[in-house]
Parts: sequence; structure tokens; C-alpha cells
Amino acid sequence: MYPLIRNRRLRSSEAIRSLVRETIISPSDFLVPLFVVEGKGIKEEIASMPNYYRLSLDNLTKEVKELWKMGLRSVLLFVKVPDNLKDNSGSEALNENGLMQLAIKTVKNACPEMLVMTDVALDPYSSYGHDGIVADGQILNDESVEVLAEMSVSHAKAGADFVAPSDMMDGRILSIREALEDEGYLNTGIMAYSAKYASAFYGPFRDALDSAPVDIKNVPKDKKTYQMDYANRFEAIRETQMDIEEGADIVMVKPGLCYLDIVREIKNEVDVPVAVYQVSGEYAMVKAAAEKGWLDHDAVMMEQLTAIKRAGANIIASYFAKDAVKLLG
Ligand code: PBG
Repeated sequence: MYPLIRNRRLRSSEAIRSLVRETIISPSDFLVPLFVVEGKGIKEEIASMPNYYRLSLDNLTKEVKELWKMGLRSVLLFVKVPDNLKDNSGSEALNENGLMQLAIKTVKNACPEMLVMTDVALDPYSSYGHDGIVADGQILNDESVEVLAEMSVSHAKAGADFVAPSDMMDGRILSIREALEDEGYLNTGIMAYSAKYASAFYGPFRDALDSAPVDIKNVPKDKKTYQMDYANRFEAIRETQMDIEEGADIVMVKPGLCYLDIVREIKNEVDVPVAVYQVSGEYAMVKAAAEKGWLDHDAVMMEQLTAIKRAGANIIASYFAKDAVKLLG
């Protein structure tokens, strides 16, 4: 065989490399996470997420117009809720004039065709920083699911195209689907965080929203009783299959880079679109190493995003969306 077959022929110039390249990143791959805060004229940089900001509604308008111009067509909304509006059952989440509901309307006003997805979980609204209701040192499942279903309807009513439950309670996809159908929101989709691991990579996000579990007696200090154990693989497939049976339109694996084996396995197993969330800690690591001059920011960013897509992601939720699209030119 040697030397008739020389694999290096297909690598010998950028022209041939680009001709045979299997995975190409484009603006339509991205879902852009956005952090919204109360107030006016606010654009606060998040300390552990350089060049990423919390935006008040007026600046949210500017931001989504800019994203649209860049070819970015989908956003995923998160809100930072003031402490005085937090309680154990996340009641502020159901406020028709709450920050999330206003943010949805703001994006739709600024950019009617922008796809709006919303985070559905109690943590930004919870006085304990948990995704569900806390009682006797436990996170209650079914009681939390009831609130999540109401919250989803409230987001749909405000104009959300998709709700994205990130809470990992059991049975929530079915309850949310039924609640949406009952209220006539037949076309509101569900992107389920199906395989969401209990990960230390969410640290900067919890800084951004001030949503970390609080350190008080009888409140679990972590999310390990609902988010998945990172040592597990089969469970990810079971969770994903159940979410699809319960009515999920899109399934998600989260975090990204450490979980690409899971992404590929799920991609091979299911026939709905698969999303991957490259989370805050992944973003922070690249930014920090680049600031120190230890890594080439743009090169590492593109390598990671391409790896996520190559592993099987149809959709990438990433704080790098704008950086990457600028680089694509
Ligand atoms: C809340 C939620 C989290 C993230 C998305 N939705 C944090 C958590 O579960 O504690 C993490 C996103 C990121 O780190 O970028 N349910």
C-alpha cells in the first residue's frame, strides 16, 4: 500500500483542507445566552466572565439588534432577580410583569423574528438558590414541577417561542407540555436540558445571577440530588429518551467539552435535534488562560466549538457566539 496512499495529500494546502472539511461552524449553529437585570442603562461586566454582561431592558434591545445584524437568530434568556423578590417557591417567576416576561417582550419588540428561548427553573427566584422548592433539607419534585409548568405558560403568554427547563426534576417535560397544550400554546416548543450534570463548571453563571445555593442549615449545598452524577453515562440516555417521550422537541447535554462522549452517544440514539451548552466555566477558563497569554484565544475557541459540533451538536449555546461569528467574518 505505502506509498500509493498518502493521507497528507488531503492536508497539503488550505484549499484542499477546506474542500474536505467535515465540520463547519456558522452563525445559525448558535443560541446566545443573555443575562437581564432590572434598571436602566445597565451593562455590567460579570467578574468571572470577561467581556460578558448583565443588561437592563434598554441595552437588551440594542444587543439583540446587534446580534440580528451579525446573523445570530436565537437567544436564551436568564434573569437576575433582586433578593427582596426571592422566596422558596419562586412566586416572582409567575409575575406577568416580571423581568423575564418583560425581557421576552423587549426582544420580540426589538426583533420580531428573533427566536426567544427562556430558562425555566426556580434558582434565580429562589431564596435558597435551588431549582425547586426546598423542604426539610430536600428539593420537592412534584410541587416544583407544578410551579415550573405555570412558569412555562407565563413565558409562552409573554411570547417565548421555546421554554428551556433546566431544573432536572422528574416528569417536568410532560407536565409542561400538558400545561402548554391546555392553555392553547400548541406551537410553543420545549428544549429540555435532558442530560444536565451536577458540574463545578457552572460557578461563573451563579456569580452572574447571584443564584448559588445558600449556605444555611437544612438547605442542600449542592444540586447533586437532581442534577446528574458526572460519572454516569447510561443515565444520560435514559433521561433523554424519557424527555422525548414526554414531549421534548430538542434535547440538551450540559456542560459541553467534558461531556462530548455523551453528546455523541445521544446523537446516535435519538432523532430530535441535540443542543450542547458550553457553560460559563468553560468560557471563563479560555478567557483567563488567554489573558495570561498562555493560550491563543481565537484558535482555542474555534477548536472547542468545532469539537462540540463534530461530536453531534445541532445547536450550540455559547457565550462565544459573538466572538466566533466575528471571526468567521
Ligand atoms: C439554572 C441554570 C444553570 C445554568 C443554566 N441554567 C446553573 C445551575 O444549574 O446551577 C448554567 C449555565 C452556565 O454555567 O453557563 N438552572
